[in-house]
Amino acid sequence: MALKKLVAGNWKMHGLSNDLAEIEAIAAASSEYPEVDVALCVPAILIERAARAVPGFPIGGQDVHHAEKGAHTGCISARMLLDAGAVLTIVGHSERRDAQRESDAEVRAKAEAALGCGLSVILCVGEMLEVREQGAAVPTVLAQLDGSLPDRSTSDAELAIAYEPVWAIGTGKVPTPSEIAEMHGAIRKRLTDRYPGEGERIRILYGGSVKPSNAAEIFAVPNVDGALVGGASLSAGDFMPIVAAAAGAG
Ligand code: PGA
Repeated sequence: MALKKLVAGNWKMHGLSNDLAEIEAIAAASSEYPEVDVALCVPAILIERAARAVPGFPIGGQDVHHAEKGAHTGCISARMLLDAGAVLTIVGHSERRDAQRESDAEVRAKAEAALGCGLSVILCVGEMLEVREQGAAVPTVLAQLDGSLPDRSTSDAELAIAYEPVWAIGTGKVPTPSEIAEMHGAIRKRLTDRYPGEGERIRILYGGSVKPSNAAEIFAVPNVDGALVGGASLSAGDFMPIVAAAAGAG
């Protein structure tokens, strides 16, 4: 079953007021591709202005705290993201799993908090280079999924998974189509086992050095239902050819 593709940009720690024009350009150009869902996950401090600038275009956060509120200095709750105008959030990005030492259990709690508030979630998983070289990429990612997948009974909001090999993020290196197919197939199986009747419809995005030059090949891989794009999402000039490739892939 071919799912509608989702191409989400992850701006990471990039973006100032001046860059709102780029968000507007991406939103305007995306309206030419109704056959693709497009979203941008921007720094928290830009969410409200971005959401006002591009009404109806999905703006998301890049992380969320699992608690509803409380003494958590510097953190942002799911309701705060919603209140600012976000409709989705990334959770469990490898940069946070690494630098903020986020565990699978924390990622799961974040996903449940976000879904419980009605925010869609892009939940990231992915292996380190040594793990792939040892031939343990698939079991490692499945174990991450087992620890981080939310209890779907919490919400009707959308859950998507992003498979992002850590060694492919920002490096220009990309797994082969057959490596992506193997991993996405294994993730699909886990999702259908875990969420009977629903797992088939959960979009599985690929992330890690997606560019205009490789997007079409990646979107042609079975069970690749879109992309999570970092560096190439910062400008409409790089991002829109990726959206166009997703449209071409049907
Ligand atoms: P990249 O980042 O496209 O710059 O490799 C992807 C990501 O980290 O989501």
